[in-house]
Amino acid sequence: MKKIFFILLFIPFSIFGQLAGTVHDFGGDDRCNICHDGMLKSALFYNLYWSPTLDAYLMQPMEGSIECLDCHNGGNLKITMGQSTNFGTDLSNHHPISFIYDNALVLRDSELHEVIRVSKFLKDGRVECVSCHDVHGSGYPNLLKMSNQGSALCLSCHKK
Ligand code: HEC
Ligand code: HEC
Ligand code: HEC
Ligand code: HEC
Repeated sequence: MKKIFFILLFIPFSIFGQLAGTVHDFGGDDRCNICHDGMLKSALFYNLYWSPTLDAYLMQPMEGSIECLDCHNGGNLKITMGQSTNFGTDLSNHHPISFIYDNALVLRDSELHEVIRVSKFLKDGRVECVSCHDVHGSGYPNLLKMSNQGSALCLSCHKK
């Protein structure tokens, strides 16, 4: 908590600019604290993505995703979500999250790029919501970390 406070005091100016005017700019003194409150987030049980061709081992939402679900599960009483942005506890209709992207996975799935090429997207070695989205705003649609024109984002990790 102390560390976060330190960070918030001394480097936040660019983040204030990034956040301004995005869907995540809730305004007021609570603007940063609404997410950076140091509170333990949702401990619900989620319905995970599944398909017969999935090679990754998915876990319940972890850091880098659980913070998002605090609102995107529709359970935050201070925040009103739209229909398409409210996942409830069903994560089966969006890209899989909370799994380790390592060499062993690349061996199981030859259509993935090597780990070294994708490491900048990973959160502690895992794919999480923050792998693709920039929570403070990015300038791209859907708060995506980079342009997905021509599936550029997808092709950063998938060979096709
Ligand atoms: C909608 C939720 C949300 C809001 C609002 C928000 N943050 Fe964040 N912030 C996050 C999350 C989630 C992370 C972790 C991001 C990651 O791991 O990539 C983070 C990370 C950070 C970091 C660590 C460095 C980084 O960019 O990853 C700083 C510093 C930070 N936030 C400052 C701020 C400040 C200052 C504000 C207000 C102007 C703010 N945040 C508003 C959710 C939020
Ligand atoms: C404090 C609550 C809160 C948190 C925490 C939060 N969001 Fe949101 N998010 C919202 C709201 C509110 C909207 C707008 C909903 C709407 O209009 O339907 C939104 C919209 C979005 C959108 C749609 C953007 C667009 O341009 O339409 C994305 C993508 C998104 N959030 C991703 C994330 C990710 C990823 C995280 C975690 C890193 C996160 N959010 C954390 C409240 C939150
Ligand atoms: C592999 C990349 C990737 C991951 C991981 C990912 N998303 Fe997304 N997300 C996208 C893309 C691309 C879009 C825009 C196109 C679409 O809706 O599929 C999107 C759209 C969204 C939207 C807007 C939906 C709408 O219809 O308005 C929300 C909200 C969102 N994501 C939240 C999340 C949350 C929360 C997580 C983690 C549970 C997450 N995303 C994980 C790539 C990703
Ligand atoms: C950060 C890296 C990364 C990005 C970016 C990414 N993916 Fe993935 N995606 C993966 C990994 C790793 C898997 C797990 C592959 C497996 O289990 O075989 C996966 C799984 C999937 C699956 C499920 C595959 C199955 O067999 O069920 C789909 C569909 C998918 N991704 C589509 C997309 C799309 C569309 C985009 C762009 C919006 C995208 N991915 C972006 C890494 C990524």
